[in-house]
Amino acid sequence: MSPSHPTELSGYAEKLIRGRRASRAFRPDPVPEETLRAVFALAGAAPSSSNTQPWQVEVVSGALRDRLADALQAAHAEQRTTVDFPYHDDMYSKAQQRRRAAFGTALYGALGIGRNDHAARAAFDAESLRFYGAPHVAFLFTAGDAGARLAADVGIYAQTLLLAMTAYGLDSCPQGLLSFYADTVRGELGLDHGKLLVGISFGYADGSAPVNHITTDRAALDATTAFRCQ
Ligand SMILES: Cc1cc2nc3c(=O)[nH]c(=O)nc-3n(C[C@H](O)[C@H](O)[C@H](O)COP(=O)(O)O)c2cc1C
Repeated sequence: MSPSHPTELSGYAEKLIRGRRASRAFRPDPVPEETLRAVFALAGAAPSSSNTQPWQVEVVSGALRDRLADALQAAHAEQRTTVDFPYHDDMYSKAQQRRRAAFGTALYGALGIGRNDHAARAAFDAESLRFYGAPHVAFLFTAGDAGARLAADVGIYAQTLLLAMTAYGLDSCPQGLLSFYADTVRGELGLDHGKLLVGISFGYADGSAPVNHITTDRAALDATTAFRCQ
């Protein structure tokens, strides 16, 4: 069998990878504990540099989830942002900015929010700090006080986790916005170490919410990927 031909896993991989999508409205129903453990055990099979597994994963549910949502909204209202991995608006190329704008048009269109309705957009962002109503949120930290390099390992863990969730029938939304409140998250979780890369809200999507029906396309292969021989 030539490795360029599909294997028995190819069809599953197509379904799994292309079947995952970000959900932004959830039902409150919690995920059974055995499913939680199975999903996070599977995600732990992610590869990492020299198998160091330099991630610290905090899965938050129940009353703590509610307290954390309140604390995040308070931090947001008081503009108490702290980031462990700096963000700059100008870090995106023109092509990336166009993709971001197209995504924004689809998202806010589904929400019925007008292009220039900055107040409604800001309100949606503030509300998203309640994890879009999801009953659980996983915070992914690079363990210890290591530098930005470990973001590669934790990023790979993140996608492995998203796919594991999809495979177990869970819906999710990675939320970079949550990482803008790193000190608040650490404070509520009682952590004094770890750098917060991203939060992932998850549970069961509300299929009736229009926001969960937006579609995102992807750049043409050649726009992002070069195959070079010499
Ligand atoms: C690192 C990262 C950060 C993200 N941050 C947010 C966020 O803060 N809020 C949000 O609603 N979606 C967020 N997303 C979801 C993206 O908008 C989404 O993955 C993208 O538009 C592609 O859509 P899809 O996931 O449905 O394929 C984030 C995704 C990633 C990978």
